[in-house]
Amino acid sequence: MEIKLYLNRTAWMKGAYNKLSQLAAQLKESLNIDSGMVTEMKSNRAVKVIGHRGAAGEAPENTLASFLLAAEQGADMVELDVHLSADGKLIVCHDETLDRTTDQTGAIRDLTSDAVLASDAGSWFSPDFSGERIPLLEEVYEALPDSMEINVEVKDAAGSALDDNLLEFLHEGKRIERTVVSSFDHKLLVRLKNKEPQLRIGLLYAADLVDHAGYAALLNVDVFSLHPFHELIGAKDTANAVTAGMAVYPYTANEPAQWQRLLDIGVTGIITDYPGKLKTYLSSRLMIEPN
Ligand code: G3P
Ligand code: MG
Repeated sequence: MEIKLYLNRTAWMKGAYNKLSQLAAQLKESLNIDSGMVTEMKSNRAVKVIGHRGAAGEAPENTLASFLLAAEQGADMVELDVHLSADGKLIVCHDETLDRTTDQTGAIRDLTSDAVLASDAGSWFSPDFSGERIPLLEEVYEALPDSMEINVEVKDAAGSALDDNLLEFLHEGKRIERTVVSSFDHKLLVRLKNKEPQLRIGLLYAADLVDHAGYAALLNVDVFSLHPFHELIGAKDTANAVTAGMAVYPYTANEPAQWQRLLDIGVTGIITDYPGKLKTYLSSRLMIEPN
């Protein structure tokens, strides 16, 4: 016999939370279920919490402060964006220029890493983060616990200048094991995968033009994950991907109603600016499962 009862915030919002809690307690009592059998949803069906640019809703995106906050909040993985500087360093920044998120200007590809790292990447977000700077990719790997996975999104392959640089970086220690490289540039991903078969690659997409599980199968390399814009993925495409052995990590969902829809269609991870809030939301879904 199997009984599953989900308590979620939608129910809570409707004032039904207390009633469902009582029902859960009664069920536990009448079925003589011991407390060890009442487990959180996350331990039964692991949905990865992936912090977008760290915890970009609560700290300046793509800074160590943001990544460490995501770690503190219990994210399983962080997503970040990389560009190559003029002196060939892997720089963690979303935009190709410093203009929006720092007190400096200019294209990263035209600047030395010293110049990039000298900018203030925190003040634009809040004076509380004044002095935060753009990190090198290696600083993020060093700052986070080894148990945390890192989703490196390559924004611009710079021709193919970034390929060997990134692979060389990932070959240090056990970095490759905790990494998923994603990009909207699927040719780049195929190239990287052919050069390093151990690498986990994820296809980013922002248009619902094909069944992406079928499309992934045509690439002739193993695709680890699909990263669709969250509004563009439905139950059928998710099931197709999961059946084919792929993870599905939609981006960037920040609202409970969006999280609930993604959970209902069976995604395996959610990329969010609010990893702490998503963790709390997932924990509010109780599962009672007598074994
Ligand atoms: O990797 C998911 C997401 O970050 C892709 O879009 O523009 O936020 O980098 P963007
Ligand atoms: Mg990104």
